[in-house]
Amino acid sequence: MSELNNIALKIIGNGKGILAADESTGTMTKRLDNVKIESNPQNRLLFRETLFSSASMKDCIGGVILYDETIKQSNASGKKIPELIADSHAVTGIKVDSGAKTLPNSPEEKITEGLDGLRERLKEYYKLGARFTKWRAVYTISEKYPSDLSIYSNAHALARYAALVQESGMVPIVEPEVLMNGNHNSEDCFQKTSEVIKKCFEQLELHKVELKGTILKPNMILPGSDSDERIDTLKIAEMTIKCLEESVPSEVPGIAFLSGGQTEKEATKNLNQINIKNETNFIMTYSYGRALQQSALKFWSKDLKNIKGTQEVFNHRAKMCSLASKGEWTEKVENI
Ligand code: 13P
Repeated sequence: MSELNNIALKIIGNGKGILAADESTGTMTKRLDNVKIESNPQNRLLFRETLFSSASMKDCIGGVILYDETIKQSNASGKKIPELIADSHAVTGIKVDSGAKTLPNSPEEKITEGLDGLRERLKEYYKLGARFTKWRAVYTISEKYPSDLSIYSNAHALARYAALVQESGMVPIVEPEVLMNGNHNSEDCFQKTSEVIKKCFEQLELHKVELKGTILKPNMILPGSDSDERIDTLKIAEMTIKCLEESVPSEVPGIAFLSGGQTEKEATKNLNQINIKNETNFIMTYSYGRALQQSALKFWSKDLKNIKGTQEVFNHRAKMCSLASKGEWTEKVENI
């Protein structure tokens, strides 16, 4: 087994998943504004280090994705954040794209930027302790979109990114996110997500990316947030598995879903059903941002000093996700 494959399995194997705590300062400021907490480097660090030093990190979190600000911070006792993460035997990851910008000649769509100077930045992040990375491409569904241009150009950028990351000795998370926004139905989501993922792997293979040392981070197959369609968890799981089985090469060790606007419970329940039904060899786990942090953030915002209470809320959520990654979650354990 290659070294990259070992890292990938350490991150997503054994009932573990990923804590996506890599919100850019802009996004984190929105999250903190929502709970009426001032967004400054100290508060952003305090919330994040509270999660990273929680008891559930050891059993439930194999990797944490950080933002540039956080990977360079130390806690109050002088411990560097990647070291704090390593104390729980989790792997430090880093978001390396510089965001989704207007796609030239298709101004309603986005292209993710950040390739310029990436090789040098990766060297720096490796020295800081990162062993995996994330790059997110976004696509919206409507009658005209995503266009071939957006599907191709984002796949190309993801492949160039992934090749550079592996050259630096790290595992790339490839995240093509088909957004939930819109009134499309689940079948549209299935079709577009399949098309997007297939194009990504076509480009990854062209760029000679080692698939065994790659993690895919896709959306689940869901109706759009403004759609009238109601489908149950079983249908979501079946469509999601079918899409991935048909679009992802079997060498890929695992798939870590984003939560993408689902509630914490929906994201847990859907992942659980996916694992009950999963007959593929892919590990299917979580790489959640909001669906791991929302309740903890809300609780913390009421009293920034209540570290223990905040950690209890986070521990419960992380435990539920870990059970779901093994198909062992139930309503009963959720409500304990
Ligand atoms: P959500 O789980 O909140 O969608 O975030 C995951 C993520 O990392 C998006 O890039």
